[in-house]
Amino acid sequence: MPFRQPHLLGVEHLRPEDVAAVLDLAQGHAERARKGHGPGDPLRGLTQVNLFFEPSTRTQASFELAGRRLGADVMTMGVAGSSVRKGETLIDTALTLNAMRPDLLVVRHPEAGAVHLLSQKVRSCAVLNAGDGRHEHPTQALLDALTIRRAKGRLHRLTVAICGDIAHSRVARSNLLLLHRMESRVRLVGPRTLLPAGIESLGCEVFESMEEGLSGADVVMMLRLQRERMEGALIPSEREYFHRYGLDAAKLARAAPDCIVMHPGPMNRGVEIDGAIADDIRHSVIQTQVEMGVAVRMAVLELLARNLREARGREALGMGDLFG
Ligand code: CP
Repeated sequence: MPFRQPHLLGVEHLRPEDVAAVLDLAQGHAERARKGHGPGDPLRGLTQVNLFFEPSTRTQASFELAGRRLGADVMTMGVAGSSVRKGETLIDTALTLNAMRPDLLVVRHPEAGAVHLLSQKVRSCAVLNAGDGRHEHPTQALLDALTIRRAKGRLHRLTVAICGDIAHSRVARSNLLLLHRMESRVRLVGPRTLLPAGIESLGCEVFESMEEGLSGADVVMMLRLQRERMEGALIPSEREYFHRYGLDAAKLARAAPDCIVMHPGPMNRGVEIDGAIADDIRHSVIQTQVEMGVAVRMAVLELLARNLREARGREALGMGDLFG
């Protein structure tokens, strides 16, 4: 059976059949939601804690909605209201949460690897990475994959151009890994200062010219300039950046005529994307990405809850440690 993971810490270890299991389940949730049908309550009796050490609109709100729609008891804790502000460490926060016995723990953290560390410290609990530093944002890559599959009918043999601030982007990394695994061709496009050295080794092509990178692309995925993760000036000015790398009608004309335009949000209109392009529903699927975000998060919560219950059942029968 696919998707046997105890946690969702990244897409790196997902096989194509795991990705398909998530997307098929999510597709069903999305269709039922459009028809106004409920999803049942497979998370009834489970407690989901959302722990956000960084700001978020889309991920936090959609994880909360997803858990509630599936019947979980959901508590969301932002760092502004937690004792982290008083100097509590990540490990002490984990031990405190452990004592409350959550079943599903959704974590966003500014440090790469912090969510993995937490997953080793909490007991009998499935951990979901909602974005850790520059490392991974697995549910973003999965919701992007679902959005692409709905628009294009497949994930293989597509040309996907991921453009902008690649160096600081966990979205770019997770999408690159997942789309490469699903046999799409991935191009990374951006100024040399925002392209990590040696990134080609992950199986992508690299372009410094938008016109070349977008040529014939089926999918154009724009990224925000992540100023909060930058040290020093990596671009001359936002005006110059938009001129060379902002997606406008002239640059988009280089892509395939039926291309789709994506952006994980939050968007900086007039910096990495022209507002008119973002709103043009002939190409833009940005609002669909948000809609698919709820469906994908419902799917991963449901699959991890299934694995958790099975593991607890095995443990109760003395058939091995939890997740063993
Ligand atoms: N795409 C994304 O992670 O958005 P938020 O930061 O609003 O969650």
